[in-house]
Amino acid sequence: MKCRVCRAPAVVEVRRHNAGFCRDCFLGHCRSQVERAVKEHRMMGPDDRVLVAVSGGKDSLALWDILVELGYRADGLYIGLGIDGYSGPSGEQARAFARARGLELLEVDLPADYGYDVRSGAAADRRVPCSACGLSKRHIFDRVAVQGGYDVVATGHNLDDEAAVLLGNVLRWDLAYLARQRPVLPGGEGFPRKVKPLVKLGEREMAAYCVLKGIDYQVEECPMAAGNRHLGYKEALNVIEERSPGAKASFYNGFLERGSELGAGTAAAEREGLHPCPSCGAPTTSAVCAFCKLVEKAGGDPRRRLPVSAR
Ligand code: AMP
Ligand code: FES
Ligand code: ZN
Repeated sequence: MKCRVCRAPAVVEVRRHNAGFCRDCFLGHCRSQVERAVKEHRMMGPDDRVLVAVSGGKDSLALWDILVELGYRADGLYIGLGIDGYSGPSGEQARAFARARGLELLEVDLPADYGYDVRSGAAADRRVPCSACGLSKRHIFDRVAVQGGYDVVATGHNLDDEAAVLLGNVLRWDLAYLARQRPVLPGGEGFPRKVKPLVKLGEREMAAYCVLKGIDYQVEECPMAAGNRHLGYKEALNVIEERSPGAKASFYNGFLERGSELGAGTAAAEREGLHPCPSCGAPTTSAVCAFCKLVEKAGGDPRRRLPVSAR
């Protein structure tokens, strides 16, 4: 197979596009897919200060790399979740990446800074681990971004992630979640804009990007996620994609093009009645926000001062 762009021997095949790419043209393809996503969904401008949420995995490290190459002012934020055998090496990968490129990485550690970890937080708040984890991460992304004056938080959710989440939301017809499943969520009083610039790139492409760029990443998936519903949806979509290349992208892109009104009213209603949490200042509709409740139940302290960029 030859490179679609320059006709040199191809090293990566993207079946969805029925195309092969040589190394340099593939890296260019990834950058241009990010540029297109940013432009199409008006994710951010050249002067925005971007906070990239980096887990140490392939997607978020590739995202940080691409955003810096495209000229964005992008710092990283790593959250240590206190997951045995997983959080340690993930943090190492994020730190090594930042150090090698002279980039700034902010860090928050759940056990050291808040006095709980994903497992104890989930047990105390009677949630599954991924729910306690997601709640904690979203809260910390928002607080660090707002306090640090960042315009936007970027996460490494890719096309496979978003299509799997979409399938789950559609299977339950969960309109509130569908409304929040946009590649851009506008900011508001007390919370930053949130963007997913990798929505046009699949999981395999991000792994290939890291390999071709020599980016070391945490290959192991989180041990607590094993067997969860989301992974089941991913597997189901992979079976469909295998038979019909492009099905995943058309499922997700069709939602963006034609399903955009789904849940719009629900989203607007959710933003009404927001007020600052008396404990941590985050916008909430309850007396105390869900994060503070979780941390208090887990015996930790939600009022910790967050790291602010030194620059
Ligand atoms: P996940 O929810 O694990 O699928 O991760 C989705 C995205 O959330 C990643 O691509 C990162 O941008 C971000 N993320 C996940 N885990 C962390 C973490 N420990 N610290 C900072 N960002 C994270
Ligand atoms: Fe959150 Fe695994 S990364 S539970
Ligand atoms: Zn709170």
